Amino acid sequence: MSANKKKRSILVLHGPNLNLLGMREPETYGTETLADIDEMLGRLAVDLGVDLVAEQSNNEGDIVSAIQSARDKYDGILINPAAYTHTSIAIRDALIAVGVPVVEVHLSNIHKREEFRKRSLVADIAVGQVTGFGSTSYELGLRALAGELLRS
Ligand code: DQA
Repeated sequence: MSANKKKRSILVLHGPNLNLLGMREPETYGTETLADIDEMLGRLAVDLGVDLVAEQSNNEGDIVSAIQSARDKYDGILINPAAYTHTSIAIRDALIAVGVPVVEVHLSNIHKREEFRKRSLVADIAVGQVTGFGSTSYELGLRALAGELLRS
């Protein structure tokens, strides 16, 4: 297989409280569970021809470590940093340090909610942000990231 035919691999990271999807504020985040979303992403990855690994953590340091370990292992990161979107300089710095393309996703539209959710510390270092489409945000984000990686 020549270098430009290499299969791309993507790390999906879900931040705090996303393990509660399905029962957590369903009017805002929908009724699908995180397992449903990961299953959907797994199927889509096969269709798109990319490898995908998904992880969730409630801890900022664990997310930073997962991002650091993506170096040399993954070609791109799809991330929903959840509440850390709005607060975590450490996650932002880790994403910059690793330097792979990042796509930021949110189930809810963070620009339509409380003021404090409108600021993302990831948005300006990401290839793009998909926000407000429920689990479809993840689907669109994965399609966009895979497209970006398979073109490069
Ligand atoms: C979220 C939006 C964040 O503001 C919130 O803290 C979350 C989920 C979303 O996917 O809509 O936990 O990232």
